[in-house]
Amino acid sequence: MPDSPEIVPFRLLRFSDVEQMRRSINFVASMISRRSVRSFSPEPVPFSLVHNAVAVANSAPSGANKQPWKFVVVENPELKRRIRVAAEREEWKFYHQPENEEWVQQVSALGTTWHKPFLENAPYLIVVFSEQYELRIEPDGSVTRHENYYVEESVGIAVGMLLCALHHSGLATLTHSAHPMDFVARELSRPENERPYLIIPVGHPAEDAMVPKLHKKSLEEVMIRY
Ligand SMILES: Cc1cc2nc3c(=O)[nH]c(=O)nc-3n(C[C@H](O)[C@H](O)[C@H](O)COP(=O)(O)O)c2cc1C
Repeated sequence: MPDSPEIVPFRLLRFSDVEQMRRSINFVASMISRRSVRSFSPEPVPFSLVHNAVAVANSAPSGANKQPWKFVVVENPELKRRIRVAAEREEWKFYHQPENEEWVQQVSALGTTWHKPFLENAPYLIVVFSEQYELRIEPDGSVTRHENYYVEESVGIAVGMLLCALHHSGLATLTHSAHPMDFVARELSRPENERPYLIIPVGHPAEDAMVPKLHKKSLEEVMIRY
């Protein structure tokens, strides 16, 4: 059994009512300007911005505090190119299977095709892995296997916080998923307990970047107050 943690006092910064509302309004205004970007500028981005965003993600709540995630940051151009080539090979197959026709129509309307130039053009790819179980190296050198809890929920929350942090520092992102995504685990030589979760290109949008004008559901449709 792991040792119980020490229980310590908790203090949360307390703002005046006016300051609290000001912060809330500013945050809404900032966050609702986030969009998924599929066209990136090659302009370099300081690594410290990615580092800080991953620090935010790593502070996320997780089932039993297991933090069942890994954030693999790829900036090596050759590695990014290999990931793009492997992704496009898989995507091409997926897009040309008759059973996927409806999905392809839906995502095409949002600007998604089997072409994935952003996997090569964005300065960084943050490849998020979920740890299905933990592999721990014991003092005697043996490797033991330990269960993680609520893995999908925990990693989803951490990714949400990552996207907020990157947007907050003025960077554009895309949440990119692939079908299947095993190729990225192979390209990055990740261990067997890690499953690819999402690939997140990060950078400044290209000067001519375009996004679809989307309708978002109103709060009345999604928030129910009792
Ligand atoms: C789990 C998840 C997977 C996604 N996968 C892809 C993807 O593979 N390719 C893509 O172009 N967009 C992908 N998206 C982005 C969505 O299309 C996008 O979030 C949605 O159209 C809303 O647009 P917005 O992010 O600009 O608000 C994904 C989003 C999520 C949350």
